[in-house]
Amino acid sequence: MYPLQLYLVVGTVQDLTPGVYGYHPDRHHLVLIQRSDRRNLLASAAFGQDWLANAAAIVVFAADYNRTTRKYGESGKRYVHMKAGHAGQNLFLQAGALDLITVIVGDFDDEEIANVLGLPVQEQSLILMPIGRKQ
Ligand SMILES: Cc1cc2nc3c(=O)[nH]c(=O)nc-3n(C[C@H](O)[C@H](O)[C@H](O)COP(=O)(O)O)c2cc1C
Repeated sequence: MYPLQLYLVVGTVQDLTPGVYGYHPDRHHLVLIQRSDRRNLLASAAFGQDWLANAAAIVVFAADYNRTTRKYGESGKRYVHMKAGHAGQNLFLQAGALDLITVIVGDFDDEEIANVLGLPVQEQSLILMPIGRKQ
């Protein structure tokens, strides 16, 4: 029933080819989905928040509501949002522990994000979290 699906939009990360990766929690690994730097396109999809393209990488939290609502009905939507919020907070904590910095971005066009990432139709993007070094 775990509803979240995480994507990593990589630009300048040591040992990672720029591109879009899917995160697979069962094996704790990344799978390269698209081999091109999509940060600019993602920034455009976030209504031209161009500063997003300066992040080394951007984590995209998406969810498939059906995985949770098929058991819990309407309440399942609330659980998905709770999970996304908690997972996002964990990313804040992990970034802090690594002396990196991140922020929550929720102002974006759903359809454009789906196009840039090639999201399956059942997945809804919920949060973007750009990650970079403190200046
Ligand atoms: C749900 C949510 C969505 C947000 N979306 C955006 C956004 O799209 N763009 C943005 O610049 N800040 C957005 N913010 C605000 C930032 O995440 C952040 O709180 C703000 O920039 C202040 O950051 P600071 O306290 O580190 O200075 C959002 C905040 C929340 C809680």
